[in-house]
Amino acid sequence: MPSNAPSPPAAVLCGLAGWVPPRVVTNEELADRLDTDDAWIRTRTGILRRHVIEPGQATSDLAVEAGRRALRSAGVDSVDAVIVTTTTPDRPCPATAPAVAARLGLVGAAAFDVGAVCTGFVYGLATAAGLITSGVAGRVLLIGADTYSTIVDPLDRANAIIFGDGAGAVVLRAGRVDEPGAVGRFDLGSDGTHEDLITVAAGGSRQRAGGDEVPPRDRHFAMRGNEVYRHAVTRMAESARTVLRTAGWKIDDIDRFVPHQANLRILHAVADDLGLPPERCVANVDSVGNTGAASIPLALADAVADQVVRPGDRLLLTAFGGGLTWGSCLLTWPELPLPAHPYDRGEETAP
Ligand code: UT7
Repeated sequence: MPSNAPSPPAAVLCGLAGWVPPRVVTNEELADRLDTDDAWIRTRTGILRRHVIEPGQATSDLAVEAGRRALRSAGVDSVDAVIVTTTTPDRPCPATAPAVAARLGLVGAAAFDVGAVCTGFVYGLATAAGLITSGVAGRVLLIGADTYSTIVDPLDRANAIIFGDGAGAVVLRAGRVDEPGAVGRFDLGSDGTHEDLITVAAGGSRQRAGGDEVPPRDRHFAMRGNEVYRHAVTRMAESARTVLRTAGWKIDDIDRFVPHQANLRILHAVADDLGLPPERCVANVDSVGNTGAASIPLALADAVADQVVRPGDRLLLTAFGGGLTWGSCLLTWPELPLPAHPYDRGEETAP
């Protein structure tokens, strides 16, 4: 391209926020009601605590809080589209995004949900970028929000220890590919032959909700953790390599790796496989657990608030989740107002 040609359009990240509900569940509290202990949870997962909603709260309540803060961070009060990515929508029908948009004063904006389980945020970023670069939207609010406490059986010790509730949000605007914040290269993939590794069996068209014929276990989240673990490490490393190769970046070009916060051992295994020193791997799974589609923006909000991620840093975002799905994205971190720490709530209260 001649040097005086305008650079191609891109979606540029211009706002960021995270939100977790105030209630903290420690490993000790779980050990009081489950056959587990703090040492097992710490060593197998790196998780020390997680946050959960109160009865009566729902995913949209967290999404609205994160969305409001992200709009403030971007300094805007309107967008053309609101995307909510979640595995725990408020209801099977309608999508959660229109209600979230309405509560944010965004009636009229396009609003829809994206489902890719724990890869949802990366899929949502690609969807938002597509809306912007195709000219359909000038500005998009993307929110990853999940309340796994509503689908995990509280007596299931394998899963109850891992998941936490939370939301993270970003605002994207139309800009140029050479600007900091431009979300450039993506790698997205899936392998539905392993759909049974992570499921909520009932509640969809295959096995309908309600009625005594639905066994209680089919109403809850189920995961074959050990197999998922192996897929997670392999797929995340492969996806990261693919996006780096497509962009012509080397692993040494990455200042910070921001992976889906599945389990600290998984994050370190992926970083190790990629040849990234562990200190370049952003991790907040110790404080929030695995928050599904919220985990990458929550980790980002945490790291930016702590100035672990700084303007000009080159980031690799990589996620993996049920489906199976996986995805990666590269970007250079832009200058943004420092977000509030997602769990330093100060005087702020949930809705
Ligand atoms: O976010 C989407 C993707 N999800 C993930 O990436 C999660 C991936 N998987 C994992 O993080 C890990 O597999 C787990 C943390 C879920 C489990 O750790 P693990 O090291 O794979 O343990 P395991 O499932 O192989 O279980 C080992 C033992 C079993 O006992 P036996 O059969 O060896 O006697 C389990 O019953 O640990 C037992 N166990 C527990 N013990 C104490 C399972 N959960 C617990 C528990 N406390 N909470």
